[in-house]
Order: sequence, then C-alpha cells, then structure tokens
Amino acid sequence: MENNNLLELKEKALQEIEAAQTSDALNAVRNTYLSKKSELSSLTSMIGTLPPEERKSFGQALTEVRVAITSAIEEKANSLKNKELEERLAKETIDISLPGHSYNLGGRNPFYVIKDEMIQIFLGMGFEVADGPEVETDLYNFELLNIPRDHPARDMQDTFYINENELLRTHTSPVQARTMEAKKGAPVRIICPGKTYRRDDDDATHSHQFAQIEGLVIDKGINIGHLKATLELFAKKMFGEKREIRLRSSYFPFTEPSVEVDITCANCGGKGCNMCKGTGYIEILGGGMVHPNVLKMNGYDPEEYSGFAFGIGIERVAILRYGIDDIRKFYQNDVRFLKQFKKMS
Ligand code: DAH
Repeated sequence: MENNNLLELKEKALQEIEAAQTSDALNAVRNTYLSKKSELSSLTSMIGTLPPEERKSFGQALTEVRVAITSAIEEKANSLKNKELEERLAKETIDISLPGHSYNLGGRNPFYVIKDEMIQIFLGMGFEVADGPEVETDLYNFELLNIPRDHPARDMQDTFYINENELLRTHTSPVQARTMEAKKGAPVRIICPGKTYRRDDDDATHSHQFAQIEGLVIDKGINIGHLKATLELFAKKMFGEKREIRLRSSYFPFTEPSVEVDITCANCGGKGCNMCKGTGYIEILGGGMVHPNVLKMNGYDPEEYSGFAFGIGIERVAILRYGIDDIRKFYQNDVRFLKQFKKMS
C-alpha cells in the first residue's frame, strides 16, 4: 500500500473527526478508523507480508497516522464533552437553591389587639395598670361597691358562685375597692383590664365570659369634667378624631351621678342608620362620680376627696372598631375569622 493512500486515509479521518458534532458521532468515527476491524488495523496486520526493507517505513507511517487520528479524536472528544456539558447546563433549569421553610404565621386575636391599644391610650394619660382576682368575694364584688345583699342591681349581675361568699367577678369594679384599700387614702389613677363573668345565655351580643377595662381616679377636686375629658380623649384615640361623645344619665349603685357614654356612630356619622338603630349614637361604656358611700367604705373622706370611675367592655370596643357581628367569634379560634386581622397585629 502506498503512503499516498495512507495520507488520504488520514485526511479523511481528520475531516470526519472535525465534522463530528456529538460524542456518539465521534465514537462512530473512532470505530471506523481505530477498531480491530478498521482499515488501519488490517494494514497493520499486513506488515508481515511486505518485503523486509519496506516494513519499517510502512510501519512508521502507519503509527504516525494512528497517533494523528488518536490525538485528534481525543482533542475533539474533550471539546465535545465541554460543549455538551455547557449545553446541558444551559438547558437544565434545576433550581439548586433550597426553597426555604414557609412558616404559617397566625395573627393576633383582634380582642388582644384592641385590649393592648386601650391600655396604651390610658397609659398615655398617666393611668397605672392594677389587677385583681377573677374569683372574688361578695364583699369586693358587691358590698364595698354599695350593692348590699338585697339590692336589686344584683339581679342584672347573676354569676357563678363557688360558695355563698365566693363568686366569679361580674365586673372589674371590685378592683376599685381593692385599689382604694391598698392605697390607704392616697390619690388613685388606675385602670384594670380583666375577665368578667355573668350567668348569661350566650348569643351574638352576650357571653358568659367577657372582658372589661375599669378606670378609677380619686384625688382632691376631681369633677365630672375630668371624666368627660378622659373619655372623650379615649373615644377620639380609639375611634377617630371626628367621634364625639355624649353623656346620658344612668344608674349604677357605686356612682352618683352615673352616666352612660355614647359615641357618634362611625357608620353614619351621627345621622342615624341601622347600626345605631336610628339614634346616631352607640353606647360604649358606663361611668360616673364615685359614690360618697363607696369612698367612705374604702377609707376616703368624701368631704375631702372625690373621684370618677368607668367600665368599658373590651369586646364591645373591638366589635365597633372592626364591625364584628357576633361576640362569640372572639373565643372560637376560627382561623377564617382570625386571618382577617393578621395585618393589624
Ligand atoms: N361595672 C359596671 C358593669 O359591669 C360598669 C361600670 C359602670 C363601671 C360605671 C364603673 C362605673 O366603674 O363607674 O356594668
């Protein structure tokens, strides 16, 4: 075989190597030119049949061609591998970053959002927070608030009795008596947020358990103007600057005079609508000037000291602020309800 043919074989192989676009195509070229059945292999096995003087140079030529083809294939194989890897990386859109944990954060119950807001408003006016027991004695819950045993006002505040003398408190007002006792005649300016209980059938506006914030201020020279200003500021901070309040005379055994406080209806601005039952006002709390008997029974001289007190239902404030239609929703832990207040907490 002439060297020319070998050169042609080499050229052809190199061209095919160059032309191969994939590793598979290159393997096919490798098979054609370097396998045992290839032309080069059969030429190699023919060396023995050549005249001895030609064997060496033909053998060298064959080796040279084999080496050239082999290294061209290797080089091409490397570049194809790189190219194929790049293509794969470009095509594969696996996001190798971890997705992270999604925490299902809940929201605060609107009851607590409002309770805290109410406390903040009163703290801003210089009130301190006082506390008292939920299991209360008849003495603090009724007697020291000027509600003796046979007083008809007890009818409206039936409750759960532990025994004849102990009961679940029907309002936060007993903390008035407890605070006066603890202050021993010194001026008082407290609020008391807390749970209260009544023997009520549960419906959209009643619950056997609910919460109030009690307020009590006692000092020399306290008058009903202080009560009005305090509650007006509270109403504006809680319901908006445009809200106005009005005091209606009422009756509580522990205050004289007693008032019920209404705010102008947020829904109609005071014109009268369904929400305010056409009156333009919505009742938000009860209060009044501390009854002289209460001052006396709790260690204050009514000739020297006067005071005002009030009691606000926390749920009622939350209901009005958010337009909630059923008091029971605060206690049922229904996520469909709670979710709506997530942004506010
Ligand atoms: N304790 C009353 C109630 O639960 C509310 C109340 C009215 C509290 C007048 C007061 C007050 O301190 O002065 O119905």
